[in-house]
Amino acid sequence: MLNVEEQKGVKTADVVIVGGGVVGLAVARALAHARAGRIALVERGQLGMEASHAAGGMLAAQAECDRADAFLDLACASRDLYPALAEALLEETGINIELERTGTLYLSFTDEDERETSHRYEWQTAAGLAVERLTAYEARELEPFISQTLRSALRFPLDWQVENRRLVAALATSAAKLGVRLLTGTNVESLLIERGRVRGVETSRGRIDAGAVVIAGGAWASSLMTEGAGAIQIEPVRGQMLCFDARALAARHVIYSPRGYLVPRMDGRLLAGSTTERAGFDKRVTVEGAHTILTHALEIAPRVGRLSLVDAWSGLRPRVADDLPVLGASTQTRGLFYGVGHYRNGILLAPITGELIAEEMMSGTASPLMKPFTLERFHHAGVHS
Ligand code: GLY
Repeated sequence: MLNVEEQKGVKTADVVIVGGGVVGLAVARALAHARAGRIALVERGQLGMEASHAAGGMLAAQAECDRADAFLDLACASRDLYPALAEALLEETGINIELERTGTLYLSFTDEDERETSHRYEWQTAAGLAVERLTAYEARELEPFISQTLRSALRFPLDWQVENRRLVAALATSAAKLGVRLLTGTNVESLLIERGRVRGVETSRGRIDAGAVVIAGGAWASSLMTEGAGAIQIEPVRGQMLCFDARALAARHVIYSPRGYLVPRMDGRLLAGSTTERAGFDKRVTVEGAHTILTHALEIAPRVGRLSLVDAWSGLRPRVADDLPVLGASTQTRGLFYGVGHYRNGILLAPITGELIAEEMMSGTASPLMKPFTLERFHHAGVHS
C-alpha cells in the first residue's frame, strides 16, 4: 500500500522527522512543499498505526473548547486548512480523506449539561463563532435516532470530520511522492548533539546525520525530550473506542454529549468514544472501558443497543502537563524542533503544526499563532531548571 522503505542507505538528510503519525507526516509534507532539502521520516512501527489510527477524526475546534484563547485560534486555523488540504491531497494522491462537512451536534440531557452548553453558546456567539441553539425537536429532526430524553442541543456547522486512516495514507503518499524517505520499523534511540547543535539521530538501524531534527513521536516522545533535564514529559492517556455497523441509522452529524461522542463514517460504521485513562502503554480494550462508552452512547441514542458491534480498539493520546501541544524550536539545542503533545487534538492540529514548523524552520521566525505553544511557556512557569 504505502510507499515505505527500510533504512537502506539513508545515512544523511537535511531534516530528520521522528514519528510517522499524522503530525510527523504533515510536517514532512509541509517541509517537502517548502523545498527544505532531503527529508527522512523515521517511524518505530508502521506509519500512522498508533493514535492517528485510533482517533475519531473529529475536527471539533469549537465543540471541545471551553474559552476564547490562543488554543481556540490554533484549533480554528487548523480546521480551516482542511478543505484546501482535502482537495490538494486528492489531487496529489487520488486519496479522498472524506472531509464530511455536515457539522457537529452537542447534546444536553441534564440541568448541568444545559448550563455548560448555554455558557459555550454565549461566549462563542460573543466571539463571533458559528454556533446555533437547537430545541430537542429541531435536533431530532436532523438525527431522528437521538434519544427522546434530549433537552436541547448546540450545532457547530464548521466542526467537521475526516477519515483519519485515509488521512494517514494520503499524507504518507503525498510526502513520498514529494521525495520524503519514509523509514519504518526503525526506532530513534537518541539525538546526536554537539556543542549545543543537533547533528542527527542514532537509530536501531544506524546513524543518520542531519542538520535539523523534528520530534513528532506522540506518546513515545518523552525519551527524546531533553529540555529542562527531562522536566517536560509526554504522558500516554488511553482512549478506547467501539465501532458499530450503523447503516440502518443513516447518521450524518458528529454527535457529542458532555460524556461521550458518536462519529458516523461514510461507509456506515459508527464510532463511539471514548475513555480517558492513565494506563501507561497498555492498549487493551477493557470490559470497564467498553461499558463506559456504551453507557454514554446509549444515553445519546438508545437504538445503538440494536446495532452490531464490529470492532473495538484503543490509542494513546500524547499529553503534556498543561494539556497543550509543544510546538517549534528547542530553547537549548539549535536545529531541534518539536511537534508533540497534541493530546485530544492530533488530527485537528496536524495541518497547522506542519505549516507552522515548516515556516519556522525555513524563515527562522516563529509565527504569532505558534508562540503561545513554544517551550518558552515552561520557562515562564518555572518548570525548567
Ligand atoms: N478528541 C476526542 C478524544 O480524544 O477522545
